[in-house]
Amino acid sequence: MTILVVGASGATGRRLVAQLLDRGERVRAVVQSPGKLPDALRAHASLELVQATLLDLDDAAMRKLVDGCSAIASCLGHRMNLKGIYGAPRRLVTDATRRLCTAVRATAPEAPVRFVLMNSSGVRDFAREQPFSLAERCVVGLLRALLPPHADNEQAVAWLKRDIGQAAGPVEWVAVRPDSLFEEDSVTPYELHPSPTRSPIFDAGRTSRINVAHFMAELATQDDTWQAWRGRMPTIYNAGCA
Ligand SMILES: NC(=O)c1ccc[n+]([C@@H]2O[C@H](COP(=O)([O-])OP(=O)(O)OC[C@H]3O[C@@H](n4cnc5c(N)ncnc54)[C@H](OP(=O)(O)O)[C@@H]3O)[C@@H](O)[C@H]2O)c1
Repeated sequence: MTILVVGASGATGRRLVAQLLDRGERVRAVVQSPGKLPDALRAHASLELVQATLLDLDDAAMRKLVDGCSAIASCLGHRMNLKGIYGAPRRLVTDATRRLCTAVRATAPEAPVRFVLMNSSGVRDFAREQPFSLAERCVVGLLRALLPPHADNEQAVAWLKRDIGQAAGPVEWVAVRPDSLFEEDSVTPYELHPSPTRSPIFDAGRTSRINVAHFMAELATQDDTWQAWRGRMPTIYNAGCA
């Protein structure tokens, strides 16, 4: 089976593609510009590159993209410039989540397909978490109103909870919530929690992108890891940051 990675040219997506290939997986990666992937990755025999702007694909192309995939990993994120934050597509993560999961349903896979969404510790799991303080609620309200990418991440999770839910079906999901991202060269020990253990607003922890990629690869490929977190929103911190 193949693992589809969208947002594969991004800082985390590249690392995820590399780790999946290192594990011997076949990877289909959607990129707008193949040149953003390192030469060694592009030349890998187990990598199938699809050059496209994901949301420009029509429904038939979307179905072709997901066909034969055992897992889909989304490392999409808005570019951190004015156009990326306030321009189209305002609902990049939500629309990609919705359209990819809908395409999976349309292909009626024999076994459930795993959808692994890179999200953010600033997005709350209302079903499980203690209420935010008044100050946190004010800041999150401002983020929601002023920063479309934050609202996009919230809506992507809301869609998964509402439209995919927890029942058995053709798609299952996990939303991975890193705290402040940073770059590191190797995978290091990390901690997983059902909910943030520190305030993502006033006391954020740190999560290396390579560790996020490692956990997403585990989810995509390891049955026990998947069963432990299916339908949940694990928060990931580098060890010592929780
Ligand atoms: N920064 C933080 O501290 C932090 C903390 C927690 C969570 N997060 C979340 O982490 C994710 C981002 O991680 P990252 O730093 O690895 O992201 P990144 O390096 O900015 O990569 C984003 C990816 O999304 C793609 N993309 C952007 N706009 C697109 C569009 N219109 N159509 C198709 N693809 C598009 C990019 O493709 P191109 O390369 O072609 O542009 C790239 O592959 C976001 O969801 C963010 O909310 C961030």
